[in-house]
Amino acid sequence: MDISQKLIAKLKSAKSILFFTGAGISAESGIDTFRGKGGLWNKMSAQELASFDGFMKNPNLVWEWYQYRRKIVRETEPNAGHKVIAQLEKHFNKVTVVTQNVDNLHKRAGSSNILELHGNIERNFCMDCKTFYGVENFLDSEKAPRCKKCGGIIRPDVVWFGETLPQEIFAEAERKATESDICFIVGTSAVVYPAAYIPISAKEAGATLVEINIEATEITNQVDYSIIGKAGEVLPKLFELFLE
Ligand code: OAD
Ligand code: ZN
Repeated sequence: MDISQKLIAKLKSAKSILFFTGAGISAESGIDTFRGKGGLWNKMSAQELASFDGFMKNPNLVWEWYQYRRKIVRETEPNAGHKVIAQLEKHFNKVTVVTQNVDNLHKRAGSSNILELHGNIERNFCMDCKTFYGVENFLDSEKAPRCKKCGGIIRPDVVWFGETLPQEIFAEAERKATESDICFIVGTSAVVYPAAYIPISAKEAGATLVEINIEATEITNQVDYSIIGKAGEVLPKLFELFLE
């Protein structure tokens, strides 16, 4: 892993930093990524399991898959990568986490400014009356449950393929991106839009882009620094050099 002194100097002078994260930051916690080696979408159908049409066709199958993923998430812990990001709040005025992940691990690690672009697996809502329900209501439900108020179908509060992102959250993420001095792109293939516009907006507004990934991605040729390595190893190392 190669971390340049210039980057550390840049980090020391930064006021506002933004982390744009994806499934790779949770890989070391034991949660599968979507693409690449061992990726979920290599063996499962995104169309069947992560689209509105897929859910309407077979709500029970999709519900069961989400219940399974929730169980995995509950059994995992935030890793060193999530924790370093949370600790950085003590050293900078502004630290924002813009995540594509739905696993809630940034929150559990202690980050306080988190913008979830693709929702959160720990929440559900009624498709008819929009009442929200936490996961604790349906721990044992094997089938897609019905709303206690109106009888509507309850779905996970995540963004599926073809759906729009929560507009206010996305707008806020864009705002934070344009205000940031450094934007870290951690553990994402950066191929899913509009989420992947966030680092591009940061760069256009003058931020330094730093990518942390185990391999090169679609965005590598646009970043100022590419650090090849695991998020759970690179981020603690970076933090150590920053504190020196
Ligand atoms: P991907 O699965 O597309 O990409 C994960 C990235 O993490 C890859 O570039 C890996 O090389 C990298 N990676 C794996 N392990 C790593 C580690 N230990 N440290 C650092 N990097 C590592 O995941 P996302 O980019 O998050 O959307 O995918 C974007 C969206 O596509 C997801 O939010 C989800 C998915 O379909 C929806 O569900 C709407
Ligand atoms: Zn309802």
